[in-house]
Amino acid sequence: MRCSRCAAEVPADSHHVDCPACGGLLELIALPPGVRGHALRQLFAERRGAVAGRDASGVWRYRELLAACAADVVTFPEGNTPLVHAGSAARWAGCPTLRVKHEGLNPTGSFKDRGMTVGMSHARHLRARAVACASTGNTAASLAAYAALAGIPAFVFIPAGKVATGKLAQALAYGAQTLLVRGDFDACLSLARAAAHELGVYLLNSINPYRLEGQKTIVIEMLEQCGWRPPAWIALPAGNLGNTAAFGMALVAARDAGLIEQLPRLLAVQADGAAPFARAFAAGFASLQRVTPNTVATAINIGDPASYDRAVRSIRETNGVVISVSDDAILEAKAAIDAAGIGCEPASAASVAGVRRMVADGIIAPGEDVVCVLTGHLLKDPDAVVRNPARSNQLHEIDATIDGVRRVMGLD
Ligand code: F0G
Repeated sequence: MRCSRCAAEVPADSHHVDCPACGGLLELIALPPGVRGHALRQLFAERRGAVAGRDASGVWRYRELLAACAADVVTFPEGNTPLVHAGSAARWAGCPTLRVKHEGLNPTGSFKDRGMTVGMSHARHLRARAVACASTGNTAASLAAYAALAGIPAFVFIPAGKVATGKLAQALAYGAQTLLVRGDFDACLSLARAAAHELGVYLLNSINPYRLEGQKTIVIEMLEQCGWRPPAWIALPAGNLGNTAAFGMALVAARDAGLIEQLPRLLAVQADGAAPFARAFAAGFASLQRVTPNTVATAINIGDPASYDRAVRSIRETNGVVISVSDDAILEAKAAIDAAGIGCEPASAASVAGVRRMVADGIIAPGEDVVCVLTGHLLKDPDAVVRNPARSNQLHEIDATIDGVRRVMGLD
């Protein structure tokens, strides 16, 4: 691993996830794959038929592009998520050909499982005595499940009162020690980093470079599903910026391995109330000003993103754009995606809200090939539906009579 700040080298087999010399984030140095281009595409395609083992995983199937050891992995499997037309939500966004890649259909309901299979495999390889993360909910759910699979004790730090019900239920059910921290996500992450340094637990936040290796496969699998003809744009919600970083790394790796020629442009979308990255972009990335975050999209309620530097690189390398959208726009987008039968949690809908804004502003042409990544499942945050009757379907409570049914059908 190499420090992204001071370039110090650290053995890939160490417990460190940040630089012991300067505290900067570490990056794994990937070896170029032994196979390239057409032969590599063939290899990936042949593995698609696997029904068990690491080839059945939509992460490990692409191991030639991952800087991680693929022996003895902790896998469900994960990945293998569908890329589908966005149906009526495509019309809502003003982009008739819009497709979505639904990462909510991973084993614990979010894209985090792709990074966690790699991170937890490494934790087991290191014989970590415990694993930990700070989380707005999804990382905690994923860490708890994969730690249970690996048989390693897990500790999760989550901001009290700011995590959606489904995620909290998962962390508890899968057996993680769940610490409700009085503070926001950024405070949780500082605490988790301190716990890793002082108490010797292995940190599995997305500052851990092994996590990002797994998350790269969202893009690689998507490119394969596109027949290696990349879309013009890939849109994603952005919080702590691990995923934005991973997407840029994946696209560059795919190009360097001769899998694609052109890089799609990344569109990273934040919520207005938690938009330090979008503000920095608007100022030419001169500096990052941390904010006190406040958005209904709890997954991306983050004011001091840890992977800022590497996410800036992703945006620069892909000629990308970073914007923010209002909570109202996010909830409207979520209702459109839900009503299309696809469904997602609020933060995920930021990607579609962002595309609608970009089409309205004339930056994305309505006919352009765009893929939005839906990062989490609708059931992660059921309250966002049932406590938001203004935007969603109504309940009809009736007596157990046929007349009651007739009334709801509008037949009387
Ligand atoms: N979408 C969902 C559903 C998320 O849970 C997250 C992050 C993001 C988007 C943003 O990704 O942080 O890589 O920019 N959730 C983290 C967590 C912070 O703790 O579960 P990012």
